[in-house]
Amino acid sequence: MKTQVKRIEQAQRPLHGEIVVPGDKSIGHRAVIFASIARGTSRVYNLSGGEDNLRTVEAFRNLGVGISEQDGILVIEGRGWEGLQPPSRVIDCGNSGTTMRLLSGVFAGRPFVTTLDGDASLRQRPMKRVIEPLGQMGASIISRNGKGSAPLEVHGGKLKGIRYATPVASAQVKSAILLAALQAEGLTVVEEPQQSRDHTEIMAPAFGAKIEVVSGGRTVSLKGPQELSAKDVRVPGDLSSAAFFLVAAAMVPGSDVTIRGVGCNPTRSGAIDVLRRMGANIERTHLRQEAGEPVADLRVVGGKLNGVEIAPEMVARTIDEYPALAVAAALAEGVTTICGARELRYKESDRIAAMAKELRKLGARVEEREDGMTIEGGKRLEGASLKSYGDHRVAMALAVAGLSASGGVEIDDTGCADISFPGFFRLLEGLRAS
Ligand code: S3P
Repeated sequence: MKTQVKRIEQAQRPLHGEIVVPGDKSIGHRAVIFASIARGTSRVYNLSGGEDNLRTVEAFRNLGVGISEQDGILVIEGRGWEGLQPPSRVIDCGNSGTTMRLLSGVFAGRPFVTTLDGDASLRQRPMKRVIEPLGQMGASIISRNGKGSAPLEVHGGKLKGIRYATPVASAQVKSAILLAALQAEGLTVVEEPQQSRDHTEIMAPAFGAKIEVVSGGRTVSLKGPQELSAKDVRVPGDLSSAAFFLVAAAMVPGSDVTIRGVGCNPTRSGAIDVLRRMGANIERTHLRQEAGEPVADLRVVGGKLNGVEIAPEMVARTIDEYPALAVAAALAEGVTTICGARELRYKESDRIAAMAKELRKLGARVEEREDGMTIEGGKRLEGASLKSYGDHRVAMALAVAGLSASGGVEIDDTGCADISFPGFFRLLEGLRAS
């Protein structure tokens, strides 16, 4: 992957303009997966074009699924579960944890062996969380290094339904189990300590699956086996990508930015709630539904932010937005505490360590704890040379910090933004110019 050192100059003027962000990465993965295992032709509109989503597309091509692109629309010719052929080579998931974990669930029920691998970051990430439940269902998944991480050899076959309580809320684990459950004999029940994002539960019925959600979303069950049928999906804009602009505009006084067509699923929208509590002026207009998901235009007007407590209950709904929120906290008046967010250490990088270290280089006072951090904001940020650790969300969060750092910032590796958000730096520049 290209590294690309980039300088971000301090914003001399407020940010202004209207933008759209790429399609939601999580929903995009699921649209490609469901369309590939369904029978018939599905079209996927507004897939992000980010590298992670393209890894999932390539994986299914590797398994013989016909996937073509026509005028930016993905056309997927699913031939049902039986249409998936043994792959001719290792499935390279790149940086994408969602590809690796969700596809483990798909391949767990297929009568062949699939090897899933990824880049140096993905090879560090914990996979026991899917190996264990999929093993209980009857698949054998071998971590080749014996450490519970990739490369993974998935020996798929006949599966049986299970009842499983996940130790941490994880949509990737829940979805892997549900994708296996669609191929298994009997009832599968997944119970979570907190409800994780529910895109799988929303999309599965659109492809004809019968699935039950109870206990306020924390328990999901389905009876297998089930066959799915094709469906067109329009992917809403990614709230996790929009979050960088919500923070950027909220932090630079006088800014006025509108982001059109953003998915606002309540299991994902914790960052909006946190920013509003910090005093950000964010308005949702034109509420509508796309792909069964709530969508809105978000308008944010810049002003003054205050520190807040971000409690453990917020983690599942906010998980990918902590890097951006940490930047908002460094600029806010007062103290912000993040607690119960240990999961951040197992993302594309250790996001607690990464953000604490880089924000300190900018002059912010940050205390790092095992499950979060305390950020004392309100001090002027100073320019510095920063590291993204090859993590797309860290790179974009630091770019946003650069807008408020005297002398701007230089970031060592920004090419990784293409993982979820191709065009991020162009959009940021566009808002400064208008
Ligand atoms: C995702 C779920 C989250 C999130 C990741 C995408 C998904 O991970 O951090 O970026 O698409 O299901 P976990 O569910 O493992 O927390």
